[in-house]
Amino acid sequence: MTDSALHLRLRGIAKSYRASARAANVLHRLDLDVRRGEFLVLLGRSGSGKSTLLNLMGGLDYPDAGEVYIDERALFAMSERERTLLRRREIGFVFQAFNLVPTLSVRENVLLPLELNGELGPEAESRAASWLAAVGLEGYGEAFPDELSGGEQQRVAIARALVHGPSLILADEPTGNLDLSTAQKVLDLLDDLCRREGKTLVMATHSREVMGLADRVVSLEDGRVVETAV
Ligand SMILES: Nc1ncnc2c1ncn2[C@@H]1O[C@H](COP(=O)(O)OP(=O)(O)O)[C@@H](O)[C@H]1O
Ligand SMILES: [Mg+2]
Repeated sequence: MTDSALHLRLRGIAKSYRASARAANVLHRLDLDVRRGEFLVLLGRSGSGKSTLLNLMGGLDYPDAGEVYIDERALFAMSERERTLLRRREIGFVFQAFNLVPTLSVRENVLLPLELNGELGPEAESRAASWLAAVGLEGYGEAFPDELSGGEQQRVAIARALVHGPSLILADEPTGNLDLSTAQKVLDLLDDLCRREGKTLVMATHSREVMGLADRVVSLEDGRVVETAV
């Protein structure tokens, strides 16, 4: 039986980094379900495996065991190519360090996911422009990332994460490099855009401010997920 309300299902996920004794068994037989449209916060101290888990959810890395299902499709049963295509079409990533391409203009950065999906031309340009406007950066298209503040750079990264219409947004400590008031604005923006568009948002953070916005908070402890009251 499939449950269409369920977007993401993780079963028996195990991951360790063999090169590092300290990071043996980062995740142990972890199970987690995320509903469609849910805003899930993933808490955990630094080194608890939050980034590892987000990378597995997005198919950026392989688990040692277990499976990730996105809309009931087994991510690691797919070919590399299929997984890449699913990621490009259905997932948007936001990172702590923004990860904009420094040699590309703001406009070109936002166009990138569309380009990767083979969408170019006036339609792509107009989508990029409308997402830049949605994050409050109309008129910044020809600027370069190093001409922008941290908060502005993260807003460009949010436009880039949403421009290709993904249903799942994975955000890895998106406010970790921002001061408190900028962080709050960026967080509100991401929450607002994801809710308005019915996106599923999974956000790793060790900041407790985020908790008030989330539908559900879970903590990573000893490689497993523990439900935490909001
Ligand atoms: N590529 C890697 N190689 C070796 N160890 C890693 C690698 N990535 C992460 N680790 C280790 O795995 C553990 C979990 O890391 P991470 O998922 O980045 O945690 P968090 O995002 O919660 O801070 C840490 O001990 C980290 O040092
Ligand atoms: Mg991390």
